[in-house]
This record gives sequence, C-alpha cells and structure tokens, in this order.
Amino acid sequence: MERKAPNSKRSKDKKEQAAPKKPVNCWWADGPIFVFLYDKRKKEALTNGDAEEILQFVKNSEQSLHESEALRIIRIDNEYSHPVLFVDTGKEAGLDSLDHLRMAGYRLAKWAENNSAKTILIPSLKEDSEKKRNAILQGLCHASYAFDKYKSKKSEKKDVEYLFTDDLEINGVYLQTLFSGIDLAKNLINEPGGSLTPIDVANIAQDIAKKYNLSIKIRKEKELKRDGYNGLLTVGRGSQNEPLMVSLSYKPKIKNFSRIGLVGKGITFDTGGICLKPQDKMWEMRHDMSGAAIVLAAIQVIAELKLPIEVDAILCLAENRPGQNAMLPGDIFRAKNGKTVMVENTDAEGRLILTDGLAEAAELGATHIIDIATLTGAVQRALGNSIGGIFSNSEGLAQTLIASGAENGEKWWRMPLDEEYLEGLKDKVADLRNITDGGPGAITAALFLKEFVKENVEWAHLDVAGVSFTTKGYKYTDYGATAFGLKTLVETVRIYSAEEVRC
Ligand code: BES
Ligand code: ZN
Ligand code: ZN
Repeated sequence: MERKAPNSKRSKDKKEQAAPKKPVNCWWADGPIFVFLYDKRKKEALTNGDAEEILQFVKNSEQSLHESEALRIIRIDNEYSHPVLFVDTGKEAGLDSLDHLRMAGYRLAKWAENNSAKTILIPSLKEDSEKKRNAILQGLCHASYAFDKYKSKKSEKKDVEYLFTDDLEINGVYLQTLFSGIDLAKNLINEPGGSLTPIDVANIAQDIAKKYNLSIKIRKEKELKRDGYNGLLTVGRGSQNEPLMVSLSYKPKIKNFSRIGLVGKGITFDTGGICLKPQDKMWEMRHDMSGAAIVLAAIQVIAELKLPIEVDAILCLAENRPGQNAMLPGDIFRAKNGKTVMVENTDAEGRLILTDGLAEAAELGATHIIDIATLTGAVQRALGNSIGGIFSNSEGLAQTLIASGAENGEKWWRMPLDEEYLEGLKDKVADLRNITDGGPGAITAALFLKEFVKENVEWAHLDVAGVSFTTKGYKYTDYGATAFGLKTLVETVRIYSAEEVRC
C-alpha cells in the first residue's frame, strides 16, 4: 500500500487553497475549518495568541462543552470567520502531552473524513511547536492506515487538506519514510499465516534489499544445516514450509564505531506445535512474526534516512506446526554457540529460533544487539496491552530504548534479569531446557536468551507479545497490528548514529 504524507501546506497560500470544490451538505463544509486545540483538564489552550478569542469563548461556554465532546464544531466569529473545531487534546488518560496530540490528530482526521471536511486549518502551537506539530502530523498519518485488501468494498479515501498556519518547515520526507515503514510492518503483521509463509517474507525482504541497496543473505534449510543454525531447523521441522534466516546489512559510507544488530522473531504462524495451543484465539498467532516485520521495516527506514551507522536486520522465519517430522517434547538440539537445549514445550519456540538470530548478529560484528519478539503470554499478563517489556544487560542501551519509546508514544518497562531464576532453566540431560516449572515466564524467557548472547555485546530484548496486535483498539490503531517498537528502534539507532562518526 502506497501512502502519502497528509496533504499539508503552509499558511501562506491558504487563501487560494481554501475554496471548496463542491458544495457539501453541512454548514461547515463550505469553507476551511479552524481547529482549536484545548486541554480541558488542564484548562489550557495549546494554540497561540491568535486563538485568544476562541479561548474566551470556550471559557464562557464551559458548561455547555461536555467531557465527552472531544471533537465538537462550534460557530464563532473569529478573525478568520471560519467555523471552529473544538478538539480536547487531554482526553485519554495516562498519555504524555505528545501522545495526546497524536491522538488529537488521529481523531481529527477521522472526524474530517466522516464529516466531509475539505480544508482544515491548524494553528501554530505554543512552545516546542515543531515537536507538537509533528505529533499532530503523526496522528493524521496513523488515521489513514487501512488493511482492506480482503474487503470487497475498499475503504474510500477522501482528500482532506491540512494547512498549518505557522512558518515551520514540515519534514515531509522523514514522516513519509517513517510511515512507509509503519505501513510495511502493519501489512506484514496483519496478513494471515496461510498467505505469508517464511519464503514470502524472504521474498519481500529481497525486494526491499534491492530497492534500498542493502546486502542480503538468505539461508534456506540446506544453508542452515551447513552453518549449524539448529534452532530454526528444529522449530521448522513440522512444516512443509521450510524455515529461513534472512540477514540484511546496511553499510553507509559514513559510519561510526557501533554496529547494531536487530533480531526479529518471525514465526509466521504459531500453533504451538505438538504442544498444541487451545483453539481459543489461536488465530491471533498470525502476528507471531511481528518482531521480524519490525526489524525489516526498521532497516528500510534507517537506509532511507541514510543514518551514518552500520545496521543488520536478522529475520528468524519459521512456522510452528505439528506434523510428521515435528520436534517432539523432550527432543534435544545443539545451538550455534554449542549449548544443548531440551525442548520441554514445543510452544516455547520463539526463544529457540532466536538463539540463531543472536549468534548471526554477533558473527556479523554487532557491538549492540536488540531483539524484538512476541515471546511470552507472561509479559502480557505482567504489563498488559499498553506497555512493552524490556530486558537488558546494558544500562545505557536500556535507557536509550526507553527514552526513544517515550518520545514516540511507545511505553517500555524494564524488567529484571535476575540470575537467581536461571537455576530453573538447567536441564538434567541437556545444558538447558526451554521452560521452567512455573516461575516468572517473561523473565525466564529473557534469561534463556541471555545464555546465547556473546560476552561484551550490549544486548536488549523487547518482548512485545502484549502490545503488537489489538482487537479492542489501541490509541491510533482501531484493530490489528500496531507496529509497536518500530519508532523506538528507529529513534534508538538515530541516537547511536549521532555518536562520533568515522569514515
Ligand atoms: N507466541 C507465543 C507468545 C504470545 C502469547 C504472543 C500471546 C502473543 C500473544 C509464544 O510462542 C508462546 O506460545 N509462549 C508460551 C510459552 C510457554 C509455553 C512457556 C506462553 O507464553 O504461553
Ligand atoms: Zn509458542
Ligand atoms: Zn510464538
């Protein structure tokens, strides 16, 4: 799906832009609509002095504007003589001010579409106006995503024009690049398991590599065997669709001393294998490849932005199914770093394939490795559907990831990697087992991964099982993939790329 950045222009040409093309059946639609952003809880206008008159009006009519009326159009005689759309930016509890603005942009775009608005004027914002304006723009972009390829009737896109009445440049290239990554990740994650198998993802990765001049290595069964990547081979054995490892590398001319390896869990469908999952909600396991989708989209965005840092994206792709050759509970395999693993539960498959991804990232020379995976139901129970779990052996990397997320409306909570729980992962026959008896499941999964991280590498594990897919709606996503983690990764890589460069 191709996407355009919101149709936005600056104020200078607003008069010419403002004329409606066709009369529409509502009184506000025959001219541009002026947006008034107001945080009702803080009783604060976010728009600049030119909205004084409107603020006064809102104060006077405080009684008549109800909490539920986050979006309401009011008639007012202001200096522009435009109708005014009242947007309460502080509506959703628990969000920071930038996320309130993303939500405001999102609700605004939905409103504009549903009400046949043609032109929307967004006034300049007080303090930190560029950041705030970008947040509104992000909300507008989020609102235009639709996964409708399987609908006979496609969602109709109406052209709404957004004019910003300030003089700030819009970084349209950044926005477009970021959102083409977000759309790519969402489209992959939303695709059903039956129509997106490991080889389909690898083919898409190949197209992206070609387009963005990335080097790519695809290991099929034969090459995985040759190179000793037995985690993927073990998990993929039950399916006719062979497991694959895709390694993409971005090598800019100007780089710095860090090299970042992004590793993604790409289980294109997780039935649980022989330890079959219960049927309830099993269909949701089509998003068990979110990590791979996110790292693929991240390297696309990073390459398009030409960030001066080397980055690898490693996609660990397999289907977890029961089948004639499926791995059996109790089977033992030797991982790439030589440790042996007993598969006590075939549904704890993500950590098995990630042993390969972590090894590959280190072989490629990563100084920092970030893996992202829909790894455990336990993290969902611990942190719910709004906060991702982060585990790390590096204070610096963990803090950078958390701060990058906070800047972008993605909340992370750092979880302990307490070695005391490692004892439960020791097996009687093999070096390790892939589950523990009870215990804190998200932490023991992370401790398992840590056993496969090379010494001296800074590493973080992002468990997005609770946040990557929504059936109830999550902020700017009504239903489906959220692409949670992508903005965090891009921002983190941007921060590392800004460190001292070498040629
Ligand atoms: N893919 C699941 C984890 C998951 C759960 C992702 C909910 C998204 C939403 C993973 O492979 C899994 O099945 N984990 C098991 C591990 C258990 C058997 C130790 C789990 O969390 O139940
Ligand atoms: Zn599983
Ligand atoms: Zn899984």
